[in-house]
Amino acid sequence: MPVVRDKDIEVLFSASAIARRNLELAKDIAGHDYHDLLVISVLKGSFVFAADLIRAMHDVGLSPEVEFIFISSYGAGTTSGEVKVLRDIDNDVAGRDVLLIDDILESGKTLTFAQDLMLSRGAKSCSIAVLLDKRMRRQTALNADYVGFDCPDYFVVGYGMDVAHAFRELPFVGVVRGDAQP
Ligand code: IMP
Ligand code: MG
Repeated sequence: MPVVRDKDIEVLFSASAIARRNLELAKDIAGHDYHDLLVISVLKGSFVFAADLIRAMHDVGLSPEVEFIFISSYGAGTTSGEVKVLRDIDNDVAGRDVLLIDDILESGKTLTFAQDLMLSRGAKSCSIAVLLDKRMRRQTALNADYVGFDCPDYFVVGYGMDVAHAFRELPFVGVVRGDAQP
């Protein structure tokens, strides 16, 4: 197995910058006064962000229920992109305030699909929190309610995000050296 060292990765958003931003996002979320909040982490990429964001939410006095949905988007960057639920949530969203958490909002197809699904199931509201927003890649009208950082048009890894199953464990968001071309 190749040994991956942090120095092979250029840091784009440091662990401390992310932690500070997570607390700000949690305060924003708390300011919206949701009742009966159900957080849904969109797997796989959002698991680290979701884990940190829900603890930041705890720190500002929120106690959300937490669920997971495994969604895969094939060719999400193309018009033929197909979105599928590979593993669904276990509970009923009817009448609840849902907060979808994902790593990156890019074309918007994954989260448009997930938001439509929750609203079609009767969710009272369905807002969206993403760590990173690649606005220049958008192909839908979707915007997130809570955005950690605007992201340059690089393929990023770390903090839950992978390239070919690698780098999810990095505590920061970075770009593999040599890949830093928009
Ligand atoms: P979209 O908004 O449907 O185009 O899909 C966004 C999804 O694509 C994210 O949830 C990620 O799983 C994946 N993705 C997009 N850009 C990157 C990246 O730079 N690194 C890792 N995953 C990415
Ligand atoms: Mg994803």
